[in-house]
Amino acid sequence: MTGASARVSVRPAARDAAIEGFAAAVRDGLSRTPRQLPTRYLYDSLGSALFEAICRLPWYRITRAEAGLLSRHGTGILGAYGPFARIVELGSGGGGKLATLLATRPAGAAPLRLDLIDVSRAALDAAAQLLRAFDGVDVVGYQADYEAGIGDMVGQGTGRGPALVLLLGSNIGNFDPADAVALMRRIREPLGSGDALLLGADLVKPEADLLLAYDDPLGVTAAFNRNLLVRMNRELGGDFDVASFRHRAVWNPAASRMEMYLVSTRTQQVRVPAAGIDMAIRQGEAIWTENSYKYTVEGVTEMLEQGGFIPRTRWVDEDARFVLTLAEAGGF
Ligand SMILES: C[S@@+](CC[C@H](N)C(=O)[O-])C[C@H]1O[C@@H](n2cnc3c(N)ncnc32)[C@H](O)[C@@H]1O
Repeated sequence: MTGASARVSVRPAARDAAIEGFAAAVRDGLSRTPRQLPTRYLYDSLGSALFEAICRLPWYRITRAEAGLLSRHGTGILGAYGPFARIVELGSGGGGKLATLLATRPAGAAPLRLDLIDVSRAALDAAAQLLRAFDGVDVVGYQADYEAGIGDMVGQGTGRGPALVLLLGSNIGNFDPADAVALMRRIREPLGSGDALLLGADLVKPEADLLLAYDDPLGVTAAFNRNLLVRMNRELGGDFDVASFRHRAVWNPAASRMEMYLVSTRTQQVRVPAAGIDMAIRQGEAIWTENSYKYTVEGVTEMLEQGGFIPRTRWVDEDARFVLTLAEAGGF
């Protein structure tokens, strides 16, 4: 891990197109009943930094649990169908988990291409900085959503040898069940035999643990959620009175998901000019900002199979209730 031969580049999204996409999502989401905003917009530069802080909280245990599994089983994962010539990580965040996995590579391992796809430029920059310490890796970051990122990456050619796709941190939990299967299938499409997917998923656990993970006593998750208002004010000229919205996290057992909301503490008028929004929002009215589905081990297996993968090995952290599954690209 001398960093002698790491090559690193980040391909940022075009700024105008990104702002236009954000404005369209805000226009659409805030006009719906109930009002809602896509979760991916929580991750601007401050949002990504706040997420990193959440990962260090004692109540958000899945990051440490998953990193522990990667560290203990990394050699087996990387050797399963490998050596892999390429690792593609979807929603890599700051790259800490990939660094943990790479640290288990044997000395003198074959060169490796790393493709990172994330909507957050700040997260990609942090990941590139962290991963440049590894020898023999070629890191390319794409600032894009999963769908566009997979398309871009495929455009770069796949014929480099076996590929491992990472979808960690229970990123899959932001997708409704049907969309989660659709994402699995989209990931599966460009893969061939010998390629694999490593999926990290958060499992159902006691409600009290979930509420602490999504509404922590330090208020970091609340800041992460409310920062979306700050972002709309800064990027779209909004006039949200940030102090008059509170964070709310609830467990929905029927849907098996945590839900996050921004709740208005008073009746007020809000304008977001770049999104064409001029709305009255009532006291107690909520804007829905995140779903985070919680799984059973069997549910994860089923989702992978419906998406065209064959689950081969799974590791469970029983304490934090988190599962890591290595699945092979199968036929549909
Ligand atoms: C919950 S964080 C997890 C980060 C990392 N995988 C981990 O386990 O620590 C989700 C990451 O995915 C990115 N992200 C969220 N929605 C996305 C989307 N639709 N397309 C691409 N990236 C997305 C965010 O910017 C963030 O870095």
